[in-house]
Amino acid sequence: MSSPADRILIFDTTLRDGEQSPGATLTVEEKLSIARALSRLGVDIIEAGFPFASPGDFEAVQKIAQTVGTENGPVICGLARATKKDIKAAAEALKPAAKHRIHTFLATSDIHLEHKLKKTRAEVLAIVPEMVSYAKSLVDDIEFSPEDAGRSDPEFLYQVLEVAIAAGATTINIPDTVGYTTPAEYGALIKGIADNVPNIDQAIISVHGHNDLGLAVANFLEAVKNGARQLECTINGIGERAGNAALEELVMALHVRRSYFNPFLGRPADSTEPLTNIDTKHIYATSRLVSELTGMMVQPNKAIVGANAFAHESGIHQDGVLKNKLTYEIMDAESIGLTNNQIVLGKLSGRNAFGTRLKELGFDLSETELNNAFIRFKEVADKRKEITDWDLEAIVNDEIRQPPELFRLERVQVSCGEPAVPTATLTLRTPIGGEETTVAIGTGPVDAVYKAINQIVQLPNELLEYSVTSVTEGIDALGKVSVRLRHQGVIYTGYAANTDIIVASARAYLGALNRLYAALENQKSQGHPPVVASL
Ligand code: KIV
Ligand code: ZN
Repeated sequence: MSSPADRILIFDTTLRDGEQSPGATLTVEEKLSIARALSRLGVDIIEAGFPFASPGDFEAVQKIAQTVGTENGPVICGLARATKKDIKAAAEALKPAAKHRIHTFLATSDIHLEHKLKKTRAEVLAIVPEMVSYAKSLVDDIEFSPEDAGRSDPEFLYQVLEVAIAAGATTINIPDTVGYTTPAEYGALIKGIADNVPNIDQAIISVHGHNDLGLAVANFLEAVKNGARQLECTINGIGERAGNAALEELVMALHVRRSYFNPFLGRPADSTEPLTNIDTKHIYATSRLVSELTGMMVQPNKAIVGANAFAHESGIHQDGVLKNKLTYEIMDAESIGLTNNQIVLGKLSGRNAFGTRLKELGFDLSETELNNAFIRFKEVADKRKEITDWDLEAIVNDEIRQPPELFRLERVQVSCGEPAVPTATLTLRTPIGGEETTVAIGTGPVDAVYKAINQIVQLPNELLEYSVTSVTEGIDALGKVSVRLRHQGVIYTGYAANTDIIVASARAYLGALNRLYAALENQKSQGHPPVVASL
């Protein structure tokens, strides 16, 4: 690894930094689904989690290492603070992967040293080589991050990076932890490192940045021009606070503006060789999967993957696009895998055709999951003539991405209208067995249903978000409902899809409550709330 990569490496941290988004907590199975999708997408490195943080994190990293970390798959990485316990746990969890990396970090800004770490610069200069050497004794591929590099004194940063590389770090990552820098400053920081760290030729320069000022992607592109060859990013830009640099935006910027960026990698401007290893056709499906599993909706005007990203509303634009797409489009919707909602299946389609199409869409279902999803598909196909890829995704996610149904919806009926008092009659199967039926009134039908559910479930919570969107156009479309609720500071999410939005609303809310109920049961069985290390 003595020369910079001749292409840009994509390091995906959706499962680590992305999962630090409030409410984005994923189950091990959900993390595995995302890891498989990232592997299909072609990312070079998956940061699968922070193994020391909790037993759940450890297990997820280990399972991803086992199943996705194959010889031809991506490098699987685990995060570790610069302590022996963290590093040891990461090495242990990563063991099953064919290619693995430990990513260890320690802050270098004076603000963090003084107020968070209570350490001097000299102490940091001693800890970094000690911990990098320790990590190197366990795993060959080591990445080191000086946290809050964006606000660190560059001269001190050069010294820290030099000792980290001398101790064995093969990637040095420069985090703009608080999203403070501007593109020109960040580019200059990367150039300063490339010019002033004496052994920098022995490591890849990586960048990691947050979007507090909306500048993360712009900062990274400036960093590429100045020598960065690894980009740390997340699907849909999810992550701590305002999120991380968005993978899809970076990849498509490098793809669409290839001739602008080529010379910075020493290629002729007209070289057609891709700048990243990403198969852009999988971008849209991966974005939807992450959005559905994390419960974090993508804003409609989000670049690349937003619902409106390829929609032309004004008459002038529509006229231009009909005459020639190039008038108002800089990239094809197809290039990110956004096919034209083509109709793939109908109510006469068999289980085989259904299973084959799901495989093509990237779903890897067990026999039971496939059977359950097929039953749901038939129910929907009975109500709708045409089943599109988007419907299929919604049906499968609804069927297989549910937490265990501790409380299960048996029946729901609402009466509402004008004039009427919205009233819900609802029956749930409860975890202790048996059914409970109740009636509630509300300001509207969904409010009445949620009040009825609360009367039975009795888990106080604050409903933070309720959103309903249609999967496709048309009055008979499937409705997708996402719910986020908070209980004692922790956010839980739920998701459901159904042609009846009252049923979808009830199931999405129950999904979130089932996650909450399971977490409380888990705490009870351990006798205390889970002990979780955090960054
Ligand atoms: O933002 C940050 O500094 C991080 C580090 C752990 C790399 O996420
Ligand atoms: Zn971060």
